[in-house]
Amino acid sequence: MLSRLIVAMTLRMPRWFVRWVSRRYVAGPTLDDAVTVMKRLESEGACFTIDVLGEEISSLDEAQYFLDEYVRVMHAIVDHKLDANLSIKPTAFGLLIDKQKGMENIESLVRQAAEHDMFVRLDMEDHRVTTETIQVVLDLHEKGLTNVGTVLQGRLHRTPDDINNVAQTIASDADYRICKGIYLEPEAIAYTSKSDIRTKTNEAIRMALEHGAYVGIASHDIPVVNYTLDLLNELNMGPNMEDPRDNAGPKRHGKGPGYEFQMLLGVRGPMRRKLTKQGHRTRVYIPYGEKWYEYSIRRLQENPTIGLQIAKAFLMPWTNRP
Ligand code: FDA
Repeated sequence: MLSRLIVAMTLRMPRWFVRWVSRRYVAGPTLDDAVTVMKRLESEGACFTIDVLGEEISSLDEAQYFLDEYVRVMHAIVDHKLDANLSIKPTAFGLLIDKQKGMENIESLVRQAAEHDMFVRLDMEDHRVTTETIQVVLDLHEKGLTNVGTVLQGRLHRTPDDINNVAQTIASDADYRICKGIYLEPEAIAYTSKSDIRTKTNEAIRMALEHGAYVGIASHDIPVVNYTLDLLNELNMGPNMEDPRDNAGPKRHGKGPGYEFQMLLGVRGPMRRKLTKQGHRTRVYIPYGEKWYEYSIRRLQENPTIGLQIAKAFLMPWTNRP
């Protein structure tokens, strides 16, 4: 209750206040800000995926901006020798405006990334683009570009079918991030209760690992992380060892032994550091960009418990950092 009240008040505050609150979750408006944060977190043993903030666009000119900016990000990763890859929103590349052009833009980035042996993750947006996003990955693999994968959302009914279908086409080249899914999808296509979403996310993680895919477990939920740790144990998978699965693909540059944990910048740092200490590969999702305000507002609205974090940041400002 108190937390919701704090969030409601924060949403009415000036931009500078929202920026101060969100500095924990957003690297800043510029690429330099993102590099600074990564340089700091590097010492904690983290690796990274970088997100240029922004989503659905209204013209293809905007798509060009995202393409150019991601090429800049790619060069910054190489120049600063960062252990990092790219996370992109397919709609920001034009997928909903002009499917063909959107596909060309994404292909152009994935092709340039391949030259640097760099992976590109297509973030999963709402259900309007689930099929198209998966299809982009399959089409690019068919063209020989295997440095690309997407995200599957545990809450969607279709996810087990997607894992089966993708496995039939690209088998162990499949590389997923599996998360609960951030979009509140209709009951007809998605699980809506907290416990069902958690159970289905766990099942998706199991299924993808058993199919030989590379899996990024993207959750801060302790039961999901614990489920995964038990599952890894059961599958004889773990840090500092070869991936034992017969159906898994060869180890690739920038990847762990068949899996990695992924978390958002500023969320559950102690848990991430503990996993890293245990030897697991842990990746931090680093958002930056001019659209920091919109991103921050969305995060505040989707997670009302964040109010308590705001109160803590206010009372103990030294804790308000990623
Ligand atoms: P849950 O929501 O139960 O969170 C567990 C606890 O973690 C909370 O109680 C809170 O303490 C903390 N927490 C979680 N999220 C927080 C936040 N935003 N701010 C502050 N504290 C938070 N979704 C999607 O639809 N498409 C995508 O491409 C991605 N990509 C993605 C990448 C990465 C690296 C992560 C970690 C997550 C995503 N997601 C996503 C979001 C994901 O689907 C999901 O909405 C959130 O991770 C929250 O779910 P949890 O599993 O963390 O559990």
